[in-house]
Amino acid sequence: MGVVNALTEVMGGKRISPPPLWMMRQAGRYLPEYREVRSKAGGFVELCLTPNLAAEVTLQPTRRFQLDAAIIFSDILIVPYALGVRLWFEEGEGPRLDPVDDRLSFEKMRDEADPQITARVYEAISEVRAKLAGTQALIGFCGAPWTVASYLVAGRGTPDQKPARQLAENNEKLFAEIIERLISATAKHLIGQLKAGADLVQIFDTWAGVLDPEGFQKWCLKPTVEIVQRVRAVIPKAGIILFPKGVTVDQLTELARNTRADGIGIDHHTNRKAARVAVSDYCAIQGNLDPDILVKGGVELDRAVDAIKEDFHGIRHIFNLGHGIKPITPIEHVEQMIRRVRKS
Ligand code: CP3
Repeated sequence: MGVVNALTEVMGGKRISPPPLWMMRQAGRYLPEYREVRSKAGGFVELCLTPNLAAEVTLQPTRRFQLDAAIIFSDILIVPYALGVRLWFEEGEGPRLDPVDDRLSFEKMRDEADPQITARVYEAISEVRAKLAGTQALIGFCGAPWTVASYLVAGRGTPDQKPARQLAENNEKLFAEIIERLISATAKHLIGQLKAGADLVQIFDTWAGVLDPEGFQKWCLKPTVEIVQRVRAVIPKAGIILFPKGVTVDQLTELARNTRADGIGIDHHTNRKAARVAVSDYCAIQGNLDPDILVKGGVELDRAVDAIKEDFHGIRHIFNLGHGIKPITPIEHVEQMIRRVRKS
């Protein structure tokens, strides 16, 4: 912490033009050097938990591109894994966990994350921070409890997060206990990452948008407020970005006002002008290039970059995508995007 970089400055209140830039999922399969390390690592979980390999893939995109930040290579499901839940990735499909969907499976979980597992993430963070330029921020992260619970309850990704929504409906007491366990482990994991050398943290709530208004209050807003408070009770100046994907502009405002986060990420479906009016007085706005336009490239990409820069000109803005970069994205399109963002 304490390293001066453009991202931290924007979050602290400065307006910078052209805006600082990084990409969600910037370390990943669209990079041949990532695929090479990945094939040698054994499995994805092993890659996340082998500090020197995790540090290496974290740094890869920062060597290739002029980015203002690195995000530590890990996964939101490392928290349930550290809570004792079996986790593996089915090749070409996605994550699998032993479902936590009843009292018995919940009671098998640890009360607190296994420090031997989380320590490996912190070790990777310290290594990256030591190797990264002082002008580049290092971002730590966690999944928000609702999004992590949506995988934990189902034991896998689902199109509509139905298993978690049903458990919340049919056994609210148990679901609330699962969320509470995740709040506690998540806040601690964010604190651990900041102490290890992360300059700021991002909380990914990928499935916040599927909750109904009451569910949003209970399972997105309240846990997020609680996590931010717990982190700031230990690290008062912790820089925090929220990414509540798919929520309404009113909900973005509520999150910004109630959490006092330093930044809010918006996806590519969010109306930029409305988001600007609603939240730019409270915090920085991050986003929102459509990852599919980055796949397409060409004039459409130039136009999309220009439109985002124009709509967020004069406010605290961090350029990013509306969701993670897709594996099929051509590297030249990333280079084109970066040149266009940097053009004053
Ligand atoms: O952004 C970064 O570069 C940092 C690393 C990062 C990963 N996952 C690496 C990863 C981050 C921040 C995440 C967050 C994450 N993980 C989220 C929230 C953000 C989002 O994208 O919605 C979620 C929902 C997960 C859970 C997860 N991990 C899924 C559903 C999958 C399978 C889908 C897929 O893309 O394969 C993963 C795997 C995963 N996490 C990969 C990477 C690079 C691909 C694994 C591989 O190399 O085979």
